[in-house]
Amino acid sequence: MCGIVGYTGYRQAYPIVLEGLKKLEYRGYDSAGIALHKGDSLAVYKKEGKVSVLENFASIYDKTSNIGIGHTRWATHGEPSDRNSHPHVSASGNLAMIHNGIIENYGQLKSELLDKGYTFLSDTDSEVLLNFIEYIKTNNECTLEEAMRIALKRVSGAYVILLIDQDYPDTIFAARKGSPLVIGIGKGEHFLGSDASPMLEFTKEVVYINDYELAIVRPDELILKNLGNERITPYVQKLDIELAAIEKGGFDHFMLKEIFEQPKTIFDSLRGRLDLDKSSVTLSGIEAIEDKIKQARRIIIVACGTSWHAGLMAEYVIEELCRINVEVEYASEFRYRNPIITKEDVIIAISQSGETADTLVALENAKEQGATIFGLVNVVGSSIARISHAGAYTHAGPEIGVASTKAYTAQLAVLQLIALKIAKIKGTISDERFNTLLLDLAEVPEKVDFILNNQVENIQRIASKYSGAQDALFLGRGFNFPTALEGALKLKEISYIHAEGYPAAEMKHGPIALVDENLPVIFVATKDSYHDKIISNMQEIKARKGKVIAIVSEGDEIASSLADDFIVVPNCNEVIAPLLAVIPLQLLSYYIGIERGVDVDKPRNLAKSVTVE
Ligand code: G6P
Repeated sequence: MCGIVGYTGYRQAYPIVLEGLKKLEYRGYDSAGIALHKGDSLAVYKKEGKVSVLENFASIYDKTSNIGIGHTRWATHGEPSDRNSHPHVSASGNLAMIHNGIIENYGQLKSELLDKGYTFLSDTDSEVLLNFIEYIKTNNECTLEEAMRIALKRVSGAYVILLIDQDYPDTIFAARKGSPLVIGIGKGEHFLGSDASPMLEFTKEVVYINDYELAIVRPDELILKNLGNERITPYVQKLDIELAAIEKGGFDHFMLKEIFEQPKTIFDSLRGRLDLDKSSVTLSGIEAIEDKIKQARRIIIVACGTSWHAGLMAEYVIEELCRINVEVEYASEFRYRNPIITKEDVIIAISQSGETADTLVALENAKEQGATIFGLVNVVGSSIARISHAGAYTHAGPEIGVASTKAYTAQLAVLQLIALKIAKIKGTISDERFNTLLLDLAEVPEKVDFILNNQVENIQRIASKYSGAQDALFLGRGFNFPTALEGALKLKEISYIHAEGYPAAEMKHGPIALVDENLPVIFVATKDSYHDKIISNMQEIKARKGKVIAIVSEGDEIASSLADDFIVVPNCNEVIAPLLAVIPLQLLSYYIGIERGVDVDKPRNLAKSVTVE
């Protein structure tokens, strides 16, 4: 949450920082701001609203400078407003700082500073930390670097901070704990960012900064130290992402582009892992913990949001194929409720960003208690990837739209492979079933392509018919119960229509009271072993005059004749069906969001990477 960018070098900093902020806007868009070192002073431009508002506001100023820091905010402490926007300037005016994260003990630090006569211009925890650093610098008569070290030892919470100092015209001071920071290495220049997207255009060489590290960044020099003032050798990695991957490529929105990328991204997530000729699944991460898996008494899946829905599908699939107990946990609940964790537990963490604070801390806790951690993440080099004992990348490529689409289907695809691999290790699957599922999985990219080529106009028509709805109910059973939850979440996120996902049968215990002629009820009704049951549930909604929209398998006359509107997906094994059934739901939400005039790539109040708990 919150995007941070920095540049020091020989180019003009402002355009680089501004464009960087646009790339990181998925992390929050309540306000944006940039600070530049102008030789004899620090200049700060900041505005409530999206980066484009800042751009217009700052257009009239002379922004010549070779060093700058910028921030795009997802508000925590203090409402979105100009004065709560970052960068903040210290009481003396000598320091400017941006911050991503939360300073949990800011209240205590603030009262100490108030006692010493400090006043504050904003309601933020960040301004408190900045002035605390400045107070230590003045009081101890030390360098900024030393003051940061002393201050950060007193801080609890999470942070990435970037500071510029009036007295150091070419230096950015940075530190990290719990929030991501990447430094791009150029020739005579350095780039800083919450992720690598702001620097892709300029360099592919990056250093991922670890917790409790402090970076002193100059055009020709990157000094890395720990909080004990010991030098650390930066570990330079080569990025494998092309600039085109983070651009819209002719689509109106990133979300639509990412929905349409799914035949390729699902293929990429299976590539090199699923081998039809050899009838095998290769997953080196699972192979690395094979013994632990054999001994495991259960698997605990920990995730948030859409990734949690992928985890829920995995529970159905792994229990079905591997006959091992699976528990699916919301990371935020799991980390605080004193769960029973043993050395025999295997934890699978699912996260697109690999940075979600609750998931990360839940894993750290479980790791301390001896559990084996397997990370399923999309962002290469992210914190969750780095703290896991073993893992697999989803290979969906950068996902920019705030509502997750291609990352979700890539997670589902790899989770299917994980289930098949574990089933083989444990000997709980017959060769025949294994081979059938392998074949079906291999056909998914082509079948997703079929949906995208044949159903878009139909879905647009349905979206326009129901875009005025106030509420919507999504129902599914079995393997597609998580699909119903994901469909409801997508609609909520990008259309602001109140939507609930429910197990279809459970609907009789409450939600059915909502049904009238105005309520669209979306059934995920693909052919599976529960099909007759879900047909009965459709009848129950029809009998109460609810509007039925059904996702049906090709050739299913019964379900399609019952529905007011239906969307066809190709036939496939019920275990794999969630990979296909979610595609129409993503498109339906997208087009309803568009009909309602929502900025679907940046829906209100949300952020893509939730680095605060
Ligand atoms: C946010 C995003 C969701 C995402 C969730 C978990 O809420 O808006 O799209 O599913 O965080 O994020 P993760 O990166 O851990 O998958």
